[in-house]
Amino acid sequence: MGLFDSLKRDKQTEPKTVKPEVQETYEEDDQIDIEEVEIVEREVAPAIEDSRDVKPIKSYAEKAPVKRAVGQTKVMAIINQKGGVGKSTTAINLSAALGEMGKQVLLVDLDPQGNSSSGLGIEKSKVEHCVYDVLLNEVPVEDVIIPDVCEGLDLIPATINLAGAEVELVAEMARENRLKDAVGSMRGKYDYIFIDCPPSLGLLTVNALVAADKLLIPIQCEFYALEGVTKLLDSMKRVKTRLNPTLDIFGVLLTMYDGRTTLSRQVVEEVQRYFGKTVFNTLIPRTVKLSEAPSFGLPITQYDPTGKGSQSYNNLAKEVINRG
Ligand SMILES: Nc1ncnc2c1ncn2[C@@H]1O[C@H](COP(=O)(O)OP(=O)(O)OP(=O)(O)O)[C@@H](O)[C@H]1O
Ligand SMILES: [Mg+2]
Repeated sequence: MGLFDSLKRDKQTEPKTVKPEVQETYEEDDQIDIEEVEIVEREVAPAIEDSRDVKPIKSYAEKAPVKRAVGQTKVMAIINQKGGVGKSTTAINLSAALGEMGKQVLLVDLDPQGNSSSGLGIEKSKVEHCVYDVLLNEVPVEDVIIPDVCEGLDLIPATINLAGAEVELVAEMARENRLKDAVGSMRGKYDYIFIDCPPSLGLLTVNALVAADKLLIPIQCEFYALEGVTKLLDSMKRVKTRLNPTLDIFGVLLTMYDGRTTLSRQVVEEVQRYFGKTVFNTLIPRTVKLSEAPSFGLPITQYDPTGKGSQSYNNLAKEVINRG
């Protein structure tokens, strides 16, 4: 008796739950039906997670050797306390574009939502240490960096643990300087260190303002685009006076631009009037591909290399390099 025969016998003795038409397929010498059952089983769609580009989590010691000299490190906070303006999208895609252009980039995810981490294909449940441990548990920054998440790009991930940091930092000594000390130890190893900030002006954002040399402010082309910007600039001035005298704006980036609408064009004019030359010439268009890419764990330069989103972030990367 062959393997299939014994399978058939087992199925025939199963209780009544087997439908009659299925039973008909278990005729003696009719092995094809068994195979059909197997094929049906294989048709089950893979879980959505399986289709994502989930990256292996390497340690800093496994980082690929850097073949070229690294320039002076520029630390930039990607900041706007307004939610959903394109901070994380810019953090991921600008970092990846610069990495592909041969720069060494470190992206620090400072938002408990962890959008930069998941958008780069890092499964947060598998992360052992996150930026929280650097800020509050004195874990060395090298133990937290995930190297080579993309070409030239390393990541300090965030997990939900970071949500407690706002409250826990209040009781700590030198609470505003925690990130500055961590990031400072990485100066000289990267061309750019970007910090993806949360949508608030709490202690995490203050840490970013103290750690950064310059600010990159994304502004969404929408009604009330400049809402809250004065508050952000006030925070910048306060940190500048007391904790970080050289802090300044590096650039203002207009995001989700839709050239077909008068509103988008009006916002561009208004923002240019307000910020003058600091506004980047590159406008980031609203495209579905940019909003889809994070669910595949890929930057736009890999998800849709020839599309508008990819072109615009490549142009932004060139502008960033040219601004020095
Ligand atoms: N240029 C774009 N075109 C289309 N969708 C975009 C674009 N930029 C961002 N999005 C989408 O808009 C939403 C908000 O973007 P993103 O997460 O980058 O903003 P954020 O400022 O980081 O938000 P938060 O304040 O919550 O951290 C996301 O769903 C993102 O995919
Ligand atoms: Mg974000």
